[in-house]
Amino acid sequence: GRVAVLMGGSSSEREVSLDSGRNVLQALRARGIDAVPVDGVPALIQALLDRRFDRVFNVLHGSHGGGEDGVLQGLLDAFGVPYTGSGVLGSALSMDKIRTKQVWLALGLPTPRYVRLAPGGDVQAAARALGLPVIVKPACEGSSVGISRVFDEAGLDAAVALAARYPGELLMEQLIVGEEYTVGILGETALPSIRIVPAGEYYDYHAKYVAEDTQYLCPGLTGEDEQAMRALALQAFIAVGCSGWGRVDVMRDRDGGNWLLEVNTAPGMTSHSLVPKAARALGVSFEELCWRVLETSLG
Ligand code: DAL
Ligand code: MG
Repeated sequence: GRVAVLMGGSSSEREVSLDSGRNVLQALRARGIDAVPVDGVPALIQALLDRRFDRVFNVLHGSHGGGEDGVLQGLLDAFGVPYTGSGVLGSALSMDKIRTKQVWLALGLPTPRYVRLAPGGDVQAAARALGLPVIVKPACEGSSVGISRVFDEAGLDAAVALAARYPGELLMEQLIVGEEYTVGILGETALPSIRIVPAGEYYDYHAKYVAEDTQYLCPGLTGEDEQAMRALALQAFIAVGCSGWGRVDVMRDRDGGNWLLEVNTAPGMTSHSLVPKAARALGVSFEELCWRVLETSLG
């Protein structure tokens, strides 16, 4: 059968997704798979009606015009077309950082304290409740889009104004000072953790996709610490109903405590991206990784 590599779209992560998609397309074709690019959900619907493919490899990042928030998954379920990665529930929950945290908290999993910022709500009071520094985020974006760290009260309004440019809710979260990690999930297992060491202060959009001086240490930890990090990430992934493949972002504080940030259900597959780096540390090439992700669509 033919595989549609779904990419692009109209979310804030369009360019990242096109980059991921081109890499995946090339890798699948190198494996002899009949793979075709499809840009965005409207184009996918037309191709679905014309029965131009049998399966979807989804690297359409983001929500609101992306393919990571459950809408695409519901559409494909309705057509009975298999796809890579999580289903409706896991995708929708993971795209929403607030509901993700609520599920983790209910299960006793560690995630930084937060306040949902209602429109017109008291931002200063929220910051006082959490204690500075905090991080302000749109609840449903990816790739650090719309995110700011705030260290003093004077910076709060600008941070909220930036996050409010994106659709949906906002949250303010306690900023965990420490090291940044991510754990890729492939099938039922957690890949080696990656510790991210940006050359600048933060692993923001620039450090993610543009900078060549961000350092990635993989595995990020050793011994029991590494095992604990992987186990927590897998538990967090399963807790929000995810399956197939994905990536869990985690902060580690200065006392060695792990704090879950979020789950990405269609992680980046760019040359700078993290799941490909973790796979490589296990001796799994990018081509092999794409093949294994495609296998997650077999049910
Ligand atoms: N949201 C980006 C694509 C990632 O998590 O890799
Ligand atoms: Mg994300």
